[in-house]
Amino acid sequence: MSDRHLTVVDHPLVQHKLTIMRDKNTPTAVFRQLLREISQLLAYEVTRNLAMTTKRIETPMQEMDAPTLDGKKLALISILRAGNGLLDGVLELIPAARVGFVGLYRDEVTLKPVQYYFKVPEGLNDRLVIAVDPMLATGNSSVAAIDLLKQAGANNIIFLCLLAAPEGIARMKEAHPDVPIVTASVDEKLNEVGYIIPGLGDAGDRMFGTK
Ligand code: URA
Repeated sequence: MSDRHLTVVDHPLVQHKLTIMRDKNTPTAVFRQLLREISQLLAYEVTRNLAMTTKRIETPMQEMDAPTLDGKKLALISILRAGNGLLDGVLELIPAARVGFVGLYRDEVTLKPVQYYFKVPEGLNDRLVIAVDPMLATGNSSVAAIDLLKQAGANNIIFLCLLAAPEGIARMKEAHPDVPIVTASVDEKLNEVGYIIPGLGDAGDRMFGTK
């Protein structure tokens, strides 16, 4: 499913792996490995429209103008800490990408994001910026992270997540209608403390084994 603002990657491999990740009995190591695999499949989708050019090369048979990526290296921005789980897999597919980090934690009472770290590559205004965070829940931290990236010059941003709640999608669409979202699933809703239902629990805890 895809519109200009939202792409749901419904590829069977993505959906199969996601189901295993959702299962509460899936151990940390398996969860982490599946996240790495899914992020590569999502990265394939998110980079579908990268600008291309050609360069002259010589195959063993003859010269040709062969397709190659155009423009500055793209920037991957991990929204800490759970973003790192998506980042690793995407980086394996795009090893030359520049990498940045936005540190935000969610105040458990207000559910509002609080910034504690910001370090991004230079020249964001000339790069495709892919911001990664597995869970688009209330959208508060995603909107805040994109605000910061725009303040730093980014003007071509895609938001990549594993699961999205309808509430978070609506919030992002309202605040940043120019930022397309790519996700593996749009879940049903948020619960009263801002967790995605049915979701997969706390993505950070599940990937780092902190609970
Ligand atoms: N963050 C998570 O890790 N899980 C949710 O369900 C919502 C936000």
